[in-house]
Amino acid sequence: MINNLYNLIISDITRLCYKSCLNYFPPDSVILDVGIGNGIMLKKNHSLIKVKNLRITGLDINRHYLEHCRKLIRVFGLESQVDVRHQSVTTYDPPRQAYYDYIFFGMSFMLLDDQKAVLERAKKWLKPQGEVIFFQTMFKNRSKVMEFIKPRLKFLTTVDFGRVTYESDFYALLDQENLSPCKDMLLKKNVFKGECRMIITQPEHYIQH
Ligand SMILES: C[S@@+](CC[C@H](N)C(=O)[O-])C[C@H]1O[C@@H](n2cnc3c(N)ncnc32)[C@H](O)[C@@H]1O
Repeated sequence: MINNLYNLIISDITRLCYKSCLNYFPPDSVILDVGIGNGIMLKKNHSLIKVKNLRITGLDINRHYLEHCRKLIRVFGLESQVDVRHQSVTTYDPPRQAYYDYIFFGMSFMLLDDQKAVLERAKKWLKPQGEVIFFQTMFKNRSKVMEFIKPRLKFLTTVDFGRVTYESDFYALLDQENLSPCKDMLLKKNVFKGECRMIITQPEHYIQH
């Protein structure tokens, strides 16, 4: 039931989210997927993950989603490439520092209470030249309607949509954390002028000027 609701509500966005990022990752990339969810994306993308030889660690705090995700990993024979953990990104530690090529927040960043603390920790998990990628809905102007609706949606749908993300706040946070936006792509326009965007960032000390 929980998975069916989740699939129904966010499947289009999930498709776009993983299509965009999996196409972007070069072969042999090592990726941390923060908030991998129920792994529904594996249905459409298992071949691509295999062909590109991607290695993905998926974190999530929702046991039900992860049970479903583990089933799909077995169905598509991805055990050697996709590993999921029931753990919050706030307490996770990678096998060693500078371990990942990409840290990916696919519609999960807006759910974190202390985004700044998470970025501070996560930056250290990147290899030199590594990137932090965000896929999320953002708003340019304050939307009181969305601020009212979003927190209430969880009670109706069981899916947590987190808080409304404003472009100026998000960019200010990137600036504080010395994460330089390298690319910001508008992928889809949503209701109430929301924009579904993929933002690729890199810690400043890794950027060659
Ligand atoms: C909107 S869902 C997106 C899931 C998936 N990326 C997708 O596109 O289908 C956000 C996910 O982030 C997870 N999440 C929320 N807070 C988290 C945290 N602190 N650490 C890891 N995952 C978290 C939620 O449980 C949920 O599965």
